[in-house]
Amino acid sequence: RCSRNIASNASQEPPPFAFVFDIDGVLLRGPDILPAAKRALNILEGDNVLRKKIPYILLTNGGGVGEHERCEKLSAQLGLPISPSQYCQAHTILKKFSHKYADKPVLVLGGKLDTVRKVAHGYGYRKAFTTLDVLAWKPSHRKAGHDDFSKTPISAVFVYHDPRNWALDVQVACDVIQSGGIIGGPYVNLKDQDEPVELIFCNPDLLWKSDFDRPRLGQGAFKTAFQAVFQAVTGSEYPHVQFGKPTEATYEFAEELLEARVQEMYGSGARLSSHIYMVGDNPESDIAGANFAEWFSVLVKTGVYEPSYGLPSHLPTYYADDVEEAVKWAVDREM
Ligand code: G3P
Ligand code: MG
Repeated sequence: RCSRNIASNASQEPPPFAFVFDIDGVLLRGPDILPAAKRALNILEGDNVLRKKIPYILLTNGGGVGEHERCEKLSAQLGLPISPSQYCQAHTILKKFSHKYADKPVLVLGGKLDTVRKVAHGYGYRKAFTTLDVLAWKPSHRKAGHDDFSKTPISAVFVYHDPRNWALDVQVACDVIQSGGIIGGPYVNLKDQDEPVELIFCNPDLLWKSDFDRPRLGQGAFKTAFQAVFQAVTGSEYPHVQFGKPTEATYEFAEELLEARVQEMYGSGARLSSHIYMVGDNPESDIAGANFAEWFSVLVKTGVYEPSYGLPSHLPTYYADDVEEAVKWAVDREM
């Protein structure tokens, strides 16, 4: 049904604009769908003056499960098909780098550990391990065909999603980094390490909006805790790579995904319009990233941003009460 709908657009020109939606605080609050979300997406699914489907993708700093699994759940919650081709979460971008680590042991942190390990395997990181795998490893395992962490160094630590056991994850990450990747190995001065362990975070959000009244601490809070401990122990923070909104890498990746979505809907010759509207609730991630990417940014009041706190740290193109008002404003200004 979905492919037939998509094919029927192929003969038309795409609308001269497209949307990118944040999820938490815009479409969802915790497990609950925000009332305006279904009305907003129905406008884009064809209930508009153009009588055309208006392309959109979802761009979230959330994660912890596979894209297909999350899209199935979102489709059921929103009551319309959300395809993995229109979904980008915090760690989706890691698919681009799996060739570099295909057979190198890497540590993956966050969320439900065995689920995140499965996600990493699905991306092509064939030797992804969790902190519980490391905790369970014993030197006696050397003979048992397990991966011998005392010989095969962990080459990178990926923080996929918000860690649940900060103490364990901070401890194991500090061990792995200081010992050059060798679990239980001697600590080697970082400047004497030939191949220092790489550290990659996928979501910088200090705060995010769930169904609790006050914003919740996100992966950015874990990163702050880890770096504070690492600095206390070694004298300096550890160099790292940051993905997720508002980073340029993630917005470039999202724009590629959106162009592919336009072509999936309107044929391979279709081009993405320069008029991209990002609707978000977090000035630090959604608005900052969209402004830097030279998209239009719409800040809604259903999430992290609270007007009573004064001006946001990054000023949007437009303020909207909710995602439905945001979509109506954008469609009206394009007509
Ligand atoms: O962990 C999710 C949170 O960091 C924010 O998610 O959808 O508002 O980018 P989102
Ligand atoms: Mg949000």
